Amino acid sequence: MREVSARLLDWYDSAAREMPWRVGPADKAAGQRPDPYHVWLSEIMLQQTTVAAVTAYFRRFVSRWPTVGALAAEADEEVMKAWAGLGYYARARNLLKCARVVVAEHGGRFPDTEAALLTLPGIGPYTAAAIASIAFDRQATVLDGNVERVMARLHAVEEPLPDSKEALRALAARHTPVLRPGDHAQAVMDLGATICTPRNPACGICPILADCAGRRAGIAAELPRKRPK
Ligand code: ADE
Repeated sequence: MREVSARLLDWYDSAAREMPWRVGPADKAAGQRPDPYHVWLSEIMLQQTTVAAVTAYFRRFVSRWPTVGALAAEADEEVMKAWAGLGYYARARNLLKCARVVVAEHGGRFPDTEAALLTLPGIGPYTAAAIASIAFDRQATVLDGNVERVMARLHAVEEPLPDSKEALRALAARHTPVLRPGDHAQAVMDLGATICTPRNPACGICPILADCAGRRAGIAAELPRKRPK
């Protein structure tokens, strides 16, 4: 399991997509950590919205409201207007609610454990794990559609979703390293978004092709199977 993560991290170091909420390799080497506010804001925006669509909104939000405290102090109407176009307005309402709870109950700093993050408005299991690992280096298991697909293929899991979800979560947990769990999570998500894609996966350039049981069995592109509703 170590080897898979090591290969993914090497690939991430050389091929990671640049995103405005990520810390680049040079800054990382200088010890800079991702800002929990940035990680939170980006993960909420990325729910049901693509990286390409989110980028401009993210930049506008953090330049206008540089801290969670600044966002919390803003009038609801202003934030809703800035959110317009991203859709799913319940997310924007929860965003403000969450910012205000972070200020009122946590002194303006995001809590640094998955359990504490889960108590905040708008933060479910995926987002809590993403913030805990990316911002705070916690060994939390991040499971989204990309991670599910990568795990199903890597381990040739033929049981269909959603029945296989907990098995896929357990596999994702086994791969999560003690060091750099946040980079690992983002590497798996990037792999799923760019190489291990739902259709026509680019197995020829996959950094973990040699580990992939789905590929060996010739069924990678068919996975994950989905139970008919
Ligand atoms: N999708 C949602 N959050 C992401 C992240 N931090 N990196 C890559 N893809 C993502």
